[in-house]
Amino acid sequence: MSAENNVGASMEAIQYHYDVSNDFYRFFLDTEMSYSCALWYTGQESLDVAQQQKIDYHIDNLELNPAAASRVLDIGCGWGAVMRRVKQRYALSTVTGITLSDAQVQHIDTLNLTDITATLENWQDHQAAKGTYDGIISVGAFEHFATPEASQEEKIQGYRNFFTSCYQWLKPSGIISLQTIGAGNMKREDLHHFFATEIFPESDLPRLADIATASTFLFEIVSVRNDREMYANTLREWLKNLQGNKQTVVNTFGTDLFKKYEKYFSLLILAFDVYKSMDLYRIKLRKIDKPRQ
Ligand SMILES: C[S@@+](CC[C@H](N)C(=O)[O-])C[C@H]1O[C@@H](n2cnc3c(N)ncnc32)[C@H](O)[C@@H]1O
Repeated sequence: MSAENNVGASMEAIQYHYDVSNDFYRFFLDTEMSYSCALWYTGQESLDVAQQQKIDYHIDNLELNPAAASRVLDIGCGWGAVMRRVKQRYALSTVTGITLSDAQVQHIDTLNLTDITATLENWQDHQAAKGTYDGIISVGAFEHFATPEASQEEKIQGYRNFFTSCYQWLKPSGIISLQTIGAGNMKREDLHHFFATEIFPESDLPRLADIATASTFLFEIVSVRNDREMYANTLREWLKNLQGNKQTVVNTFGTDLFKKYEKYFSLLILAFDVYKSMDLYRIKLRKIDKPRQ
C-alpha cells in the first residue's frame, strides 16, 4: 500500500467489518447483497426492488453507449451487484471491481462471471492506463477514505488524490457516480465511539463541502441528491431481516454479533431520521477536460 498517501482505513480495518462471514450478511441484505442505501421512488417497493433501482440510478448516470464495448470501474464493489447489473444491461461491457474484502472477492470468484473481475486492491494502488474507463461507480466506499485521526487538510488531500486518480483513469468527459454517507448536522468529534471502534474502525465521514473542494478543477458536479430518509428505511429493512432471523443468527454467530448489529442499525436509524446528523449523498460528477490551472 502507498503508505504516505494513505489516509483511509487499512485493509485490516476493512476486513474486520466486511469479512465477518458472507453468510452473516445474507441474513439481512437483499438477494443481490447490496450493502448501501437503497432508492425508493414510491416508498412502497420491496428492499430488493429499491436496491435494484439504486443500482440502475448509478448505471444510468454513467451515460454508457449500448453499442460500444464500455469499460466500467466499481470502486468498493462489495459482493458485485453493480458489476453484474452493468453486464446484464450492457452486453459488450467489461467491468472491473476493487475491494479490500477478501470474502467479497472470493464470493464474486465463485460466480465465474464473464467480463467481470474483482480484485483485492486499495484504490490507491489501482493501475490503469490514462483514459481506460468510460465510467466509474463508487457506492458506500468513500466513507472509508479518511481516518478520524487525519487533519482536515490531510483529509481533503486524500479525497483529492482519489479524484485525481479517477480523473486520470477516465476517458474525456467520463463520469463518476458516487454514493456516500456524509456528515450532516454533526461535527467530526461527534462521531459515536461505538462506530469508530466497534463498527467502522479507521473511518470518518466526508462533508459535502469536502467533496466539492477536493474535486474542484477536476470534476463538474452535475447533480447531488440527499436521500437521508432512505438510509433510515434501508436500515429498518436490514433490522427487520436481522431480527426475523434472530435465533439462527444467534445460534450460528453468537449473541454478541447479533446485538452489535442490532445496536448499529438502531443508532444509525436515529442518526439519519431523527438527529439528521448523517446525510446520504448520490453525486454525479463529470470530468472537466480542460481544467483551469
Ligand atoms: C459498504 S461496502 C459497499 C459495497 C457495494 N458498493 C454496495 O453498495 O453493496 C464498502 C466497500 O468499499 C470497499 N472499500 C473500502 N475502502 C476501500 C479502498 N480503499 N479501496 C477499495 N475498496 C475499498 C470495501 O471493501 C467494500 O467493498
